[in-house]
Amino acid sequence: MSDLLRASAIGTARVRLDGPDKVRGRAPYAYEHPVESPLHLHPLCSSIARGRVTSIDATAARALDGVVHVLTHHDAHRLADTGDGELAILQDDRIGFRGQYLGAVLADTPETARHAADLVTVTTEAAPHDADFRHDHPEVRAPEGGADDVEDGDVEAALAAAEIVVDQRYSTPLEHNNPMEPHTTIARWDGEELTLWTSTQGVHPARQTLAPMLGIEPEQLRIISPHVGGGFGSKGVPHADMMLTALAARAVPGRAVKYAVSRQHMFALTGYRPATTQHFRIGARRDGSITAFALDAVSSSSRTKEFPEQAIKPSRQMYAGEHRRITQRVLPLDIAVPSWMRAPGEAPGMVGLEIAMDELALACGLDPIELRVRNEPELDPDTGLPFNQRRLIDCLREGAARFGWAERDPRPRARREGGWLIGTGVASATYPASRQPGSQARIRHTAGTFEVSIGAADLGTGTWTALTQVAADALEVDPEQIALRIGDTALPNATVAGGSTGLASWSAAVMAAAQTFRREHGSAPADGVDAIGEAAENPAEEEYAMHSYGAHFAQVSIQEDTGEIRLDRMLGMFSAGRIINPRTARSQFLGGMTMGAGMALHEKGELDPRFGHVVNHDLAEYHVPVNADIRHLEAHWLDEEDPQAGPLGARGIGEIGIVGAAAAIANAAHHATGVRVRDLPVFGSDFLPR
Ligand code: MOS
Repeated sequence: MSDLLRASAIGTARVRLDGPDKVRGRAPYAYEHPVESPLHLHPLCSSIARGRVTSIDATAARALDGVVHVLTHHDAHRLADTGDGELAILQDDRIGFRGQYLGAVLADTPETARHAADLVTVTTEAAPHDADFRHDHPEVRAPEGGADDVEDGDVEAALAAAEIVVDQRYSTPLEHNNPMEPHTTIARWDGEELTLWTSTQGVHPARQTLAPMLGIEPEQLRIISPHVGGGFGSKGVPHADMMLTALAARAVPGRAVKYAVSRQHMFALTGYRPATTQHFRIGARRDGSITAFALDAVSSSSRTKEFPEQAIKPSRQMYAGEHRRITQRVLPLDIAVPSWMRAPGEAPGMVGLEIAMDELALACGLDPIELRVRNEPELDPDTGLPFNQRRLIDCLREGAARFGWAERDPRPRARREGGWLIGTGVASATYPASRQPGSQARIRHTAGTFEVSIGAADLGTGTWTALTQVAADALEVDPEQIALRIGDTALPNATVAGGSTGLASWSAAVMAAAQTFRREHGSAPADGVDAIGEAAENPAEEEYAMHSYGAHFAQVSIQEDTGEIRLDRMLGMFSAGRIINPRTARSQFLGGMTMGAGMALHEKGELDPRFGHVVNHDLAEYHVPVNADIRHLEAHWLDEEDPQAGPLGARGIGEIGIVGAAAAIANAAHHATGVRVRDLPVFGSDFLPR
């Protein structure tokens, strides 16, 4: 077909290429990969928060018909590197948190494995533990990797001189990723070679972490993960379940071992978002312009492995303010290991900042959008660099027009219908834009079909479809001529599907490969020819502060007598550069907003400090949003391209949808009732007049 007539595949709302296979049950997820006579794993987990294992009696379990092996720290393979406290399991008798893996039973059926695990007697010696998160705990300290603090000017003097001051502490609770597909792995050792069929956001990054620990070369570890049933960050780094399966399989060479983490165990073993407190002190002139900005953030962490939630990140660049002091601290506790959850840092950090901005707007008698307009920085306050394409105000104004913001009565508790108080709220969204270097892609041509291979991941985000569109345009062929292969370390190296960097990073590799391919083989290539390309760094990331922006608008109704809260409608307006596939992109934005609704309304891991574990560890008691919670959601975006993002013109969209969404809802709840909720979730708050 003539290039002049060929329509661009990028920008078209293609349906998911993997959709038909998924709805028919034909898309192989990790646990479903067919293997011969597999063994099933059931874990042994600690019932105490801290201490040591004194003995393990597996006599009764071993005697059970169908039990093949009971693995403990006595006989587990010794790892070559035990520096990662989360992954270095079964290496000694120490217990660092309740739920920690202490061993595993392998049996010929899952039922036998589970029953046998119940027959194992683990004796422990408990040590005093601390699982109580408090921002004023004496052991609150800077993160091990160093604090990313900011100190500009004299914030205390500026606060003292400010005409208006908002001085409030906000908190966000533990939140759990809860993808539909649990973390699952099949492991099989063949000699010194290990194969893992697993559910991961990055096959190559997982291999890079696991192979050195297992004492093998990366080439001796193959990881296969073509389809992933959600991850939200919890499959962005390997967790101990993968290691446990690999260690267990090592004890039964040649046999495949299958393990699906139970929903309950996911609350302790596959990462979660830690709790944060955020103390904001914002000083402003009466006209709303910020003169002093102080934020002290603390997040909970684990003594087993540190994970500092970067809740200060968005506050570094969002708004103007000459005098600034921003600090980040952690409190290591005897609890499970936190990790990435969709927009780590930004999602909780924008709860505090965007509620504080709402409070400041009211204190100044300003519309909250106008307050943000008045505090729009010229240059990035964090780096001093110009912004690549900062269109926050466009998002706020365009979103306001679509939402009907102009009709809003600014007074809280002003609108009542039946027994319901109705309010609306707004909050900004932001997420950094970045492209990771190092991904490689290979293109091979056979009989009019272009096989495009890269170890990328599709965790439900639409990679299969969007990357096919990118490849088609790069080769100037129809998407039907592209045969994409992803999710396997046997394919060229790919960076993680994380930090909203996936598609942009892999696309750079595919585009580089396509360029080489076309240069070397022309537009009528012979059969069997191929080319390789690698993603380079984006030099613009040195010259610009690269972020995406957005605005969330929410309307809630709150039952005056009972406090029941309903999210009536929500509208998100985003600026994310070029949109590759409007259909899958809309899903990404709506999914993020839905997760933000859960964060606002009801998600909270209830950690019982007496025992050190999350007690509401299932979907009956840990509430994620369902259809009944989501009445009307809309996502829109500015029609734009970002030249600084590279030839694709696109920034990532995986995470920005959640950022700010919860604050918009909390602000709407205040507008409805006049009651300010500063500790998420909103549900269960006292909205009764006092
Ligand atoms: Mo995302 S939390 O960076 O996988």
